[in-house]
Amino acid sequence: MKHVLSMTDLSKEDIMDILETGEDLKEKRIKGKVTDLLKNKSLAMIFEKSSTRTRVSFEVAMSDMGGHSLYLNQRDMQIGRGETVADTAKVLSRYVSAITARVNSHSTVEELAEHATVPVINALSDKEHPCQILADLLTIKEYKSTLEGQKLTWVGDGNNVCNSMILGCVIVGMEIAVACPDGYEPDDDIVKMAREMGGKVEILRDPIEASTDADVLYTDVWISMGDEEERDKRLSDLADYQINSTLLDVAKNDVIIMHCLPAHRGEEISAEVMDGTHSVVFDQAENRLHAQKALILKLIG
Ligand code: CP
Ligand code: NVA
Repeated sequence: MKHVLSMTDLSKEDIMDILETGEDLKEKRIKGKVTDLLKNKSLAMIFEKSSTRTRVSFEVAMSDMGGHSLYLNQRDMQIGRGETVADTAKVLSRYVSAITARVNSHSTVEELAEHATVPVINALSDKEHPCQILADLLTIKEYKSTLEGQKLTWVGDGNNVCNSMILGCVIVGMEIAVACPDGYEPDDDIVKMAREMGGKVEILRDPIEASTDADVLYTDVWISMGDEEERDKRLSDLADYQINSTLLDVAKNDVIIMHCLPAHRGEEISAEVMDGTHSVVFDQAENRLHAQKALILKLIG
């Protein structure tokens, strides 16, 4: 049994396998072929935070493969009234085949995993968002044919998605440059680990320098869930870190523009670039479904 709390819970082989299965399932869905690969399997989905893509893609992934999902809003659960995470993990394990959880604190998914007897999947924590990166790697592979050697530039806040992207890039053999202001760097331990794994990870201040010759330009919101109180400070600190036509001009001619969504046009990305011809953001969103199907199959199929 395996938990997926971090990108590091997946080897390069696991990831390539998931991408291949994801591509195959995508093709099947386009052709209208149905599968019952998850017949009689259930997925409990605990959400402490809002979601559109993650919730819907997991629910549809399960129903498409003949399985069942349960959306569990933390506010409606006994956990919201003081039942422990450990007891919740033990109880849910008696009913379902896997648990996915979107949590405020990464330690909550770790605690769930420690006590669950079924696989636990991190559906976003303050530290990582591995499910997003699987869909992103699938998207990059579709557009660039190969992952190895591609240069991805992250512009803006070095947040949870950035942390997982650094690890994902390094595991599959991509280079990553992060352009962020002082104080918005990705987690030190993640950068250190990625470099120890032999990856090329640059942390730069100048977004133009970082974006030069990029194959992929990636950004995420400046104000993540939980950062709302810092709104004004963040808008001001991150003002020079927008993906716009200036950065597009220094990247490779066939650069793809990525964003995990939800997006705020005029903040981390200009409307022109978000809705322009280089943008692949809705393919990324779609690929959440296909990549997560492959991930679930790997864990409980
Ligand atoms: N990208 C992503 O995880 O979107 P949601 O917050 O809508 O799930
Ligand atoms: N960094 C964002 C990602 C949302 C999908 C957040 O944590 O809110």
